[in-house]
Amino acid sequence: MKIQPVKGTRDFYPEDMAKRNFIVDGWKKTSIRNGFAEFDGPIFEYLAMYQQKSGDEIASQLFAFEDRGERMLAIRPEITPTLARMVNQRINALARPIKWFSVPRLCRAERPQKGRLREFFQWNVDIIGVEDCLADAEVIFCAVDYLVQTGLTSNDIVVCISSRRLLASLLEYFGIEQDQLNKVYAVLDKKSKVPAEAFEEMLKEVVADESKREKILKLMATESLTALEDLAGNDEKAKKAVEELARLFNYLNIMGVAEYCKFDIGIVRGLAYYTGIVFEIYDKSQQLRAICGGGRYDNLLSDFGGPKITATGCGMGDCVLGIVLEEKGLFKNLNENQRLEYFVAYAEDGLQNEAIRIAAKLRQAGKKTDFSYKGGGLGKQLKQASTLMAAKCVIVGQEFSQKGEIIVKDMSSGEQIIITEKELFKFNI
Ligand code: HAM
Repeated sequence: MKIQPVKGTRDFYPEDMAKRNFIVDGWKKTSIRNGFAEFDGPIFEYLAMYQQKSGDEIASQLFAFEDRGERMLAIRPEITPTLARMVNQRINALARPIKWFSVPRLCRAERPQKGRLREFFQWNVDIIGVEDCLADAEVIFCAVDYLVQTGLTSNDIVVCISSRRLLASLLEYFGIEQDQLNKVYAVLDKKSKVPAEAFEEMLKEVVADESKREKILKLMATESLTALEDLAGNDEKAKKAVEELARLFNYLNIMGVAEYCKFDIGIVRGLAYYTGIVFEIYDKSQQLRAICGGGRYDNLLSDFGGPKITATGCGMGDCVLGIVLEEKGLFKNLNENQRLEYFVAYAEDGLQNEAIRIAAKLRQAGKKTDFSYKGGGLGKQLKQASTLMAAKCVIVGQEFSQKGEIIVKDMSSGEQIIITEKELFKFNI
């Protein structure tokens, strides 16, 4: 019986790896030019860390196991709790603001579907220690900066932004109890993902009072910040949250990315720890799940035993992004890294060792080089050189045996020159 890969996982053959590297290299370059430093953590942590802090949805999707010491562990479904744990550990030594990024491999036992798998890569950028929503603006800018450099435009993607602080204050104003908030958030997060009747049914389960439900439904139908101001009435907390959103949009405008962004009260986020501005990025043309999601989390560090320091950040997975890049033809120059600089061929079997020696020397000189194991005639070797997209073919033939000279063939023009080995290693032809 042929062994199959596990459901929801991917095999990365070289052509898939080229796409993965295309995505990951772009993430890393963007993070660095936006001033973030890379970190990573372990692939598994204590199960309790996610059960307590990530929220019910992620807790139900954990790959958990018991180790030999009877400790309950889980493969990481996200890296934000690890980040909080690591920052807490060195809190006094780290200069603030802390701007870190990471590209972890994550696992969630989700039902595999288009754009959602059980194992995926996720780019994270987080800023710790900045209260002002300038930090949220910077995180959003960084995500948009990446997407724009892939070739996506404001016709393709939209950043939908809202605020948990706003939602919390309005829900409180409507009479929803503080300890019910997380349950209500989890339902509101599903609004755009399930049919309207199903959503109303789910809401009924967490909010029994009909008049409160009506207010919530009215709130969720609000489309502008100005309309929200009316709903908020004189509630000070809600007003402050609206002001904060207005300031955020102003920063995004100054940064030149406002055309990508819009206010959307429907953005709630599934994770439990968000406390302020929240956002998700979508592909405009189709019904795929979010490309990216993030927001402000004020309590995660203190919940893990650290000081109360605010943080904001986001995560972008490689799955939906990969689908979008593929459909829009934006995977470019994928084979650039694979392209050989030199292929060393030999015209006579007796010269194979010379070819191997020259190829090894070229590699040591930092040139991407290969040669044929089998030989089998110059024609065959030149064909192999073309398949491997070699820029130049070095031919060790009769001239080498007689005068120590080699032929260097330019594979695109077909031009050939004859030079000594010493001249070849000057690399000026
Ligand atoms: P999240 O919304 O759970 O947030 O995930 C962020 C992104 O990761 C999603 O928008 C999606 O692109 C990708 N993603 C999530 N689950 C899957 C899956 N099963 N398959 C493929 N891609 C997936 C977080 O994880 C937060 N920790 C992000 C964050 C960082 N917030 C603050 N800092």
